[in-house]
Amino acid sequence: MANFKDNELVNKIVASNNIVDIISDYINLEHKGKNFFGVCPFHDDHSPSMSVSPEKNIFKCFSCGASGNSITFLMDYLRIDFKEALKILADRVGISLDNSFTKKKVNSELEELYKINELAVSIFKNNLASSSGKEARDYLKKRGLNEETIKYFNIGLAINNSISSALSSKYSKEVLENLDLCKSYGDKIYDTFINRIIFPICDKDKNVIGFTGRIYREEDKNESKYLNTKETNIFKKGNILYNLNNAKEYIRKEKEIIICEGQMDTIRLHTIGFDNVVSLSGTSITKEQIDLINSLKCDIILNLDQDDAGKSATITLGDAFTALGKNVNVIVFKDAKDTDELVLKKGEESFKNAYKNRVSFINFKLDYLKNNKNLNDSVELSKYINAAIDSLNKINDEVLIELKLKEISDRYGVSISTLKSKIIKKEKKVVVNTKPKETKRYTGYQKAELRMIYLMLNNEDVIISYENNLGFLVTQEFTDFANEILEFKMKNGEFNLSDFITYVYQNGLNNLLKEVMEDGGPEDYTEEELDYLINIIKRTTVENEIKRLRKIQKESLDEEEKKNIAKKIENMRKEVLTWYKK
Ligand code: CTP
Ligand code: MN
Repeated sequence: MANFKDNELVNKIVASNNIVDIISDYINLEHKGKNFFGVCPFHDDHSPSMSVSPEKNIFKCFSCGASGNSITFLMDYLRIDFKEALKILADRVGISLDNSFTKKKVNSELEELYKINELAVSIFKNNLASSSGKEARDYLKKRGLNEETIKYFNIGLAINNSISSALSSKYSKEVLENLDLCKSYGDKIYDTFINRIIFPICDKDKNVIGFTGRIYREEDKNESKYLNTKETNIFKKGNILYNLNNAKEYIRKEKEIIICEGQMDTIRLHTIGFDNVVSLSGTSITKEQIDLINSLKCDIILNLDQDDAGKSATITLGDAFTALGKNVNVIVFKDAKDTDELVLKKGEESFKNAYKNRVSFINFKLDYLKNNKNLNDSVELSKYINAAIDSLNKINDEVLIELKLKEISDRYGVSISTLKSKIIKKEKKVVVNTKPKETKRYTGYQKAELRMIYLMLNNEDVIISYENNLGFLVTQEFTDFANEILEFKMKNGEFNLSDFITYVYQNGLNNLLKEVMEDGGPEDYTEEELDYLINIIKRTTVENEIKRLRKIQKESLDEEEKKNIAKKIENMRKEVLTWYKK
């Protein structure tokens, strides 16, 4: 169990944010009485069954039982982990979290490797700031990168063997080689990156996993332009999206990701205010990268280079994301090969215009398919139209298909009925909640237990009543949960539901919480009801105990023991009878 004290800061952060503000960022809420109401995002809902209480700082859905506080709302809604949600809340109220809060717990071996890479980052940064960094600083300046940008991306400089001389006394040759920071020949050790501008590469959780280095000196112009860390235990090129570590929260906010080819394009876009941007490091994309992007639940904007390779990659990526049901748009511009060049040569407005006038992927593709075809030649025209129809068959929007067919028909004089005959009729996809609501059937006494816990969560008096009159429930799982509530109140001196929800999520008890919240009933109670609940729980416990004893009695061979048990059972039955009379 986590230490209750650990949560002080967390509770403070949650309490400093009004849950109504948090949820309103994503869902329309209407004020009604004490509470706010909205359409619950956690089940297929059309009426406002989710209630948000600013007073208790929690939300609750009457229909599906989803409930929680701001932190758990963000976790479930944005599908992020506890620490990411906490970070969002902390940022909103200007509380800074130290690394122990924002970094995921990883095993210590990996942690060590990340730490060495972090050290390398600081060495590279020092190099850039040092007197040996003058030429590199001038290069960066010439490319239009200012101090802020250099800092934002942790850009540094590799000079001759600065890594090996600083780190080889502290870390073994093997470790430095495994990270591809160094290479050794015999007993000599050299840096992997020499005379290159260094861009650290992080995973989405902000761990430094590798580097890419670009040449910057005139005399190196025949070397390969970029050099990347080779595949290591922590650096898998195919899993990486450059800048996702920074972009993640912007992507979430904008519900949109801009995908570029080179890291300089991402860096350039930062300088003009676009931060929901990542780079692929080239034109190829792996299944892992596609999955990673798909998991971000956002629209896709493809912003690859405007050359043939970039355009062909745009088609590949667009097809892949369209097949996943994503909304895909493409940025198109003239007069420059890539975004970096466009902004530098033509100014930021030219990119902003291209962004504003981005085209839908299907339009881009229908246009692309015309390339290198002479549409005055009927054989080539027919090829084009067939390819266009192939593409239309991949999209799910019947209206759009119809409009496009009409365009093609008008433009090329093919009858709409001929075109339509080639469209594959798609099965109507009716969105139904395929997973029926799992309603566990609770028996009478279990309903009483759940109601008891629900009242405990909402009334401190009931917690006290539970402590004085029960201290247990019938079902072990529920007893454990009720005792968590009791313990939480004792440790904190009072019971705060929002804080308890945080605790529940941290300790994996949220499924139980959901069961309790589902059909919880009214939050207040009468003394009669409470007596009734206590009564059922006590009675059932004793009845179960009698059943257990009967079994022992039956199996026992010891006559004396049998008699004792019989006596015990008799007394218990008398006790039970008095309860029935109540
Ligand atoms: N790349 C690479 N290895 C290379 C060349 C390129 O890893 N030998 C990756 C880099 O991530 C680079 C991207 O592919 O950013 C796109 O390459 P390119 O278009 O050639 O570079 P630019 O992004 O235009 O780089 P710069 O503006 O610095 O010239
Ligand atoms: Mn470039």
